[in-house]
Amino acid sequence: MTELKKHFAVIGNPIRHSLSPQIHAAFAKEAGLLIDYEAVLSPLDQFKQTVRTLITQKLSGANITLPFKKEAYELASSHSNYAKMAEAVNTFEFKEGEIIGHNTDGIGLVRDLEQNLHVDLNGKKILLIGAGGAAEGVIYSILEKKPNELTLTNRTIEKSNTIQNKMHAYAQSFDVSLNAIEIAKLPHHYFDVIINATSASLNDADLNIVDQVFHKSSLAYDMMYGKETNFLKQAKSQASQTSDGIGMLVEQAAEAFYIWHHIKPHTKTVIDLLRKN
Ligand code: ATR
Repeated sequence: MTELKKHFAVIGNPIRHSLSPQIHAAFAKEAGLLIDYEAVLSPLDQFKQTVRTLITQKLSGANITLPFKKEAYELASSHSNYAKMAEAVNTFEFKEGEIIGHNTDGIGLVRDLEQNLHVDLNGKKILLIGAGGAAEGVIYSILEKKPNELTLTNRTIEKSNTIQNKMHAYAQSFDVSLNAIEIAKLPHHYFDVIINATSASLNDADLNIVDQVFHKSSLAYDMMYGKETNFLKQAKSQASQTSDGIGMLVEQAAEAFYIWHHIKPHTKTVIDLLRKN
């Protein structure tokens, strides 16, 4: 019996530099699955139309990237718990006429930290910089790991306050102290894990974080990848361990792959390959 080839896509704007087709092709090869996975550029004002067209072309699933994760949330007919918490969707499962919206970003970050970088978040002090979509997408997954405290900070502190209010009850249920503190008022003591979820490095901008939040036993993690950001340079100057977000990218893809194919791919070889390139 010939296996039917399934079709997948990643939709974004811009999309040319997406590594998702390469990652999913590597996972499929390892799993012995026949799939195709293409990068689709959606016009900024036609995301919903683009998705509907792809569904008529018998797509089995799609990943959604910037700037469409919120619109993807609105378009989905049902949502996973993680998508609900983030109010954003990065993975669609198309099933029996339904569009199921998932969000695998938080799981991707936590798996990279815990499984690849061997940092147990339980009981730790974590600082999350940024309050945009990237930050919001990972907060629930971090809380679930029951750190001792999660401090949110952002250039526009009102946004951190809004997230803190929204997540307050979940933080309490996981027994996590969830705070929002202005950048200028950050305590002069170190955090175990400092995560940059801002897009500041796109413009090489400085975050104005005090050096004291870093320490040689800290891990500074930048969700960006592909360049050494000012944030990582600052962390290194304080002897912190550092990581970019390539592992998170591969781990969030692995979770999407699992949702579609019910197979857990090995991620290490793919992470190593992307790092080398
Ligand atoms: P994303 O989906 O990548 O999170 P976003 O929702 O536009 O994109 O959020 C961008 C984040 O990066 C925000 O936290 C933003 O801070 P503001 O809320 O103050 O805008 C942060 N950011 C972007 N450029 C920055 C800069 N130059 N300095 C500090 N923070 C910056």
